[in-house]
Amino acid sequence: MFPVLSPEGVGLPGLIALIAVTHVFVAHFAVGGGMYLVTTERWGRKLGRPGLVGHAERHSRFFVLLTLVFGALSGVGIWFAIGLASPDSTFFLIRTFVWGWATEWCFFLIELTAAVVYYKTWRRIDDKTHMAVGWVYALASITTLLVINGILSFMLSPGAWHETKSFWSGVFNPTYWPTTFLRLGVCAFVAGSFGLFTARHVVADDDRRLVIARAGRWIVSGLVVAAACFVWTRSALPADAAGILERSLDGARGGVPLLATLYRLGGIAFGVLFLVGLVCAVAKPTRLPRAAALGLLALGLFGFGCAEYAREVLRKPYSVRDVIYANGIYRDELEHHREVGFLTSTPEAHLLQGTDDLAIGDALYRRQCAVCHTLDGYRGLDGLLEGWDTNRVGTFLTVMSKQDPARAAIWSSMPPLAANQREVDALRTWMLARLKP
Ligand code: HEC
Repeated sequence: MFPVLSPEGVGLPGLIALIAVTHVFVAHFAVGGGMYLVTTERWGRKLGRPGLVGHAERHSRFFVLLTLVFGALSGVGIWFAIGLASPDSTFFLIRTFVWGWATEWCFFLIELTAAVVYYKTWRRIDDKTHMAVGWVYALASITTLLVINGILSFMLSPGAWHETKSFWSGVFNPTYWPTTFLRLGVCAFVAGSFGLFTARHVVADDDRRLVIARAGRWIVSGLVVAAACFVWTRSALPADAAGILERSLDGARGGVPLLATLYRLGGIAFGVLFLVGLVCAVAKPTRLPRAAALGLLALGLFGFGCAEYAREVLRKPYSVRDVIYANGIYRDELEHHREVGFLTSTPEAHLLQGTDDLAIGDALYRRQCAVCHTLDGYRGLDGLLEGWDTNRVGTFLTVMSKQDPARAAIWSSMPPLAANQREVDALRTWMLARLKP
């Protein structure tokens, strides 16, 4: 058992959401950007238009900065945040996919090196070699996506891994291909949106027009691919996750209203993006106001945030479906914890010898609830418990501590409580003490 730490305020969930969403957005940016750069260079050279090649060159500087500095730093940030919030799940994923992470690391190194070489060798080496370096960058960054998505989609749908426990069936799980192509579509539209933004640096009007129209085509085709793959992904979801999504969209019981909201907001953001992309591709304007281009990027980030957040909500209460809960408790150890107690295998075991129920309750809160709930900030327990009385707390804990993990839960996002009677009683005391008189 690892120690737990929890920042108040935004809490662990907020910390992860902040770092992860920006990192993942930039990561898709980097993958799409790699393709965008080298194909733009090739396109400019083929048409014999130095203005287009210059567009690729200016773009490359930003991409090096972005992938090297922001990508690498926020990537470390994610490890920091998930290590803090979910040490057990992190440990499980590292152990299960150790060679996957190693492969990822190698390709990331190749990607970074190629990006720097590409940026530094404009006009210093011959065109063909320069483009070859660009392809190395693009393909290495796509490979990082292929690897990482094996692990991300595994968390959503481990599939045959449950029986085989093999690395490959974990990676090539039921949602691997649909979400991989979905992400590649996302990479294309993000790169296109960024192309629209930097198009204003292209000097000649006719060059700029070409760049804008092409960026529009990237946005439109990326979104079409992503939408088709989204439908494909939905059909590949595990039955219970698909059920939650369906009930949420219908506003039915057992659904998560937040999921429906994210779904709709994301849909609107991508719809607007699609329309603007289409206008750029078809009407081929010679310029786009800076604010509009910036707004599109922001809209893309927003829609993307909704989609990633929705994926996380859909996976709850698990970190890895049917294997390990978001709070690091293994599903097949639940019964054991309920019999012999949960804290007995933690450094807080000594508390059970004493009579300080508040301390025991607090330890349980930190280990089993804090990954999702702060006390009075993000999804704060104090707020959720407002208006509750002794009875309601009692019922809540009875349901949570008896819940059969194989059956649909009333609170579909929450893991069952892993505690014996003594601990449940202590948690009750702790919760009651938080109720406002
Ligand atoms: C994986 C995330 C997660 C964990 C872990 C978690 N919760 Fe929750 N909890 C939620 C979410 C999300 C909701 C909002 C209701 C819903 O849709 O499930 C919620 C709702 C609640 C509510 C309000 C329920 C209602 O009917 O209004 C209480 C009380 C609560 N949680 C207490 C706890 C306690 C106590 C623990 C630890 C033993 C805990 N939660 C662990 C995610 C979590």
